[in-house]
Amino acid sequence: MRLRKKRYMVVVVVMVFLSWNVLTYYVLVSKPSQAGQGLSNENVETQLDQLQADIQLQLQQNQRVLEDLRNLKRQAVADLKQLSPHGAVNPANNAPDKETPKPVVVVQVLPPVNDVENEPGNEKAGDLAQEDLAGQGGFYKSVARAGDPNKVILPILMIACDRVTVSKSLDLLLRLRPSADRFPIIVSQDCGHTQTAKVIQAYGSQVKHIQQPVLSDIKLTWPMDLFKGYFKISRHYKWAISQIFHTFNYSAVIIVEDDLYVSPDFFEYFAATYPYLHEDPLLWCVSAWNDNGKTEMVEDKPELLYRTDFFPGLGWMMERKTWLELEPKWPVTFWDDWMRHPEQRKDRECIRPELSRTSTFGKIGVSKGQFFEKHLKFIKLNDKFVPFTKLDLSYLKKENYDNLFVKAVYSSQLLTVSEVQSGARPELTSVRVQYNTKEQFKKYAKQLGIMEDLKAGVPRAGYRGVVSFMRSNRRVFLAPPPTWNGYDPKWN
Ligand code: UD1
Ligand code: MN
Repeated sequence: MRLRKKRYMVVVVVMVFLSWNVLTYYVLVSKPSQAGQGLSNENVETQLDQLQADIQLQLQQNQRVLEDLRNLKRQAVADLKQLSPHGAVNPANNAPDKETPKPVVVVQVLPPVNDVENEPGNEKAGDLAQEDLAGQGGFYKSVARAGDPNKVILPILMIACDRVTVSKSLDLLLRLRPSADRFPIIVSQDCGHTQTAKVIQAYGSQVKHIQQPVLSDIKLTWPMDLFKGYFKISRHYKWAISQIFHTFNYSAVIIVEDDLYVSPDFFEYFAATYPYLHEDPLLWCVSAWNDNGKTEMVEDKPELLYRTDFFPGLGWMMERKTWLELEPKWPVTFWDDWMRHPEQRKDRECIRPELSRTSTFGKIGVSKGQFFEKHLKFIKLNDKFVPFTKLDLSYLKKENYDNLFVKAVYSSQLLTVSEVQSGARPELTSVRVQYNTKEQFKKYAKQLGIMEDLKAGVPRAGYRGVVSFMRSNRRVFLAPPPTWNGYDPKWN
């Protein structure tokens, strides 16, 4: 019995071993097409590149999730601290929030002075109901595609949700808008919040109100469900921008959010930079925002503009062709960091101002105010009108800009961080601090008071690795060595 069992076991083991070999052989030879394809060097390289890019994007997203988790934690602790002994929330902190928006009195908005186009009955782009547009495509196409970049319609797309304070943004935009024809305002509302809808509708024909139709919940598991807000924002952006280009048929867009104030020359800035955006294939956006635009870090030179490798967002313009490229792969969440990834950015640049043309009052929002208290609220909003369309901005053209910029940076005297901090060599009007590693960048940035974070290797407001800002009334460049030859997307 025992012997038979042993022999039986040997047979079974041999059979299993043989079948395993046959199976392995079969698997190997039955994938000739893939193996054949995969073996070309180029193919393997592309696939590896793709894999590397995916992993980097994933890492970046994880980083953001982590940062946000930390913020949530800090916020929760802060909220707990604010609870009075009686369990009531500190009244000083009782600003209207997402759940309980306070009723607002809608301020009567007066039409801008000298704006004949704003008179009732004189609206064109801003006032047509969406359904009318099907038959109007030809009209819009012809207007939008008209040759002269100085006349192209630049619609303002306002992204709104459930904050009735959208009226603060809209009042300002309407007051400053030089022409309703050139700058129609479309408010796209997500979230189906009735009170906010009423506030928007009270503007009548001065703005076009559209509503994101899909309000279904987005099912997510922990911990991603903590960031549902970012998924909703991404979904809304995709819908709203596609309305601008496919339904309204415009050829460019200026995107703002419902918690942004704009500067007196906001429209002038975008009107003047549009031709540059249009002409220069290396530019993919114009932004109103300087990430390091705190009062003490900017020069009192409101006319000064820059090129930057960083996508700043927060009041920004892009062209139809860029959208058509991004739309099919638009991400489900964290759209702004996604834009900053090399796969999207493709080494393209934005124009940005020395003094921001937007500022945010959105303390209560999806990212919960931590960043706001620490940073955003200090960004200075430009308060002068710069007649950009009458100025010569040709210094912004790549062929002029890069020479000037590189020369200005690398001809500046090299100092150490502590020398800059102590104001050494006061006779120098511009100085340079060099970083060689990611760790050095972060350390020096922190010591000098500029934004320390990098997105896919690019520092905020940076150009060719260089961050330009003011410190004790002189220009400081935090710069990589002169031999710099590109960003390392692993620097995050
Ligand atoms: C931050 C960014 C913002 C970016 C967003 C997504 C800053 C100061 N803000 O948002 O530019 O778009 O991350 O990465 O860096 N909204 C919806 N649906 C919602 C919730 C919000 O459409 O369900 C809209 C809001 O009306 C607003 C925008 O999305 O226009 C951003 O929301 P907000 O609450 O202001 O979040 P932030 O943290 O500022
Ligand atoms: Mn916001």
